[in-house]
Amino acid sequence: MNTKPNHKINKTPARLDFIQSATGLLLALFIWAHMLFESSILFGKEAMYMMTIFFEGYYFFGEKYPILITFLGGFISTVFIIHALVAMRKFPASYRQYRIFKTHMKSMKHTDTSTWFIQIVTGFVMFFLGSVHLYIVMSQPGDVGPYASSDRMVTEWMWPLYLFLLIAVVLHAGIGMYRLCLKWGWFEGKNAKKSRILLKKLQYGIIAFFMTLGLLSIATYMKIGFEHQAHAGERYHSVKAEQGAK
Ligand code: HEM
Repeated sequence: MNTKPNHKINKTPARLDFIQSATGLLLALFIWAHMLFESSILFGKEAMYMMTIFFEGYYFFGEKYPILITFLGGFISTVFIIHALVAMRKFPASYRQYRIFKTHMKSMKHTDTSTWFIQIVTGFVMFFLGSVHLYIVMSQPGDVGPYASSDRMVTEWMWPLYLFLLIAVVLHAGIGMYRLCLKWGWFEGKNAKKSRILLKKLQYGIIAFFMTLGLLSIATYMKIGFEHQAHAGERYHSVKAEQGAK
């Protein structure tokens, strides 16, 4: 009989924590880049069209391959699902646990405790709204562009979904990155207290920046969508942008 005590440490929680951080980092960087690319519409239809055909590989292959968007969407969806699965273990498991947490949050009035709650709520919202959006871009990868995207917003009534998704994702990514920095000690420097205050300011700045950018982008897509409503379904074409690759 083996009488030796089992000194093995269970590494699963640490591994899951690492997976959550790594997938979260990737998704936050992706979403910030996504918002910047999406905002090309602020520079006009031509700019957004060039961005679209760039992602369809036109400037590399001389042909448009919307299927590339499907692959990218598939990859992001996989990371998104893994992140959500791993994060689910942090959800309050019962109504009783939730009540206890709420009382705790009220009595502590500590922003880092409240932001944890925001992460849970926004994560839950994104799980539904983000999945709808990802499925649409993956199944209709050719329907991205200045007119196609604007028609989707207005004629296909996607703007309310985008609005709620934007609020959820910008808060979740901003708060998530701040928490990652604290957790892994990134940018801690010599004075941890001072850098924490700075990081918090940066967090608010980044959230304000991407929220404004996203709202302006949605408003611009909607303006184009209303103007184009009578011709919904027609696609934008630009000989000039396509000549750029020749
Ligand atoms: C590879 C994956 C993705 C692709 C190709 C993609 C593409 C797009 C496109 C083309 C639009 C413009 C509107 C339209 O055409 O419907 C858009 C808007 C938007 N997407 Fe995504 N998206 C992806 C993933 C995500 C994810 C994972 C989220 C958040 C969970 C997200 C959040 C948003 C939001 C909030 C908007 C509204 C526009 C804005 O505020 O800039 N997207 N996306």
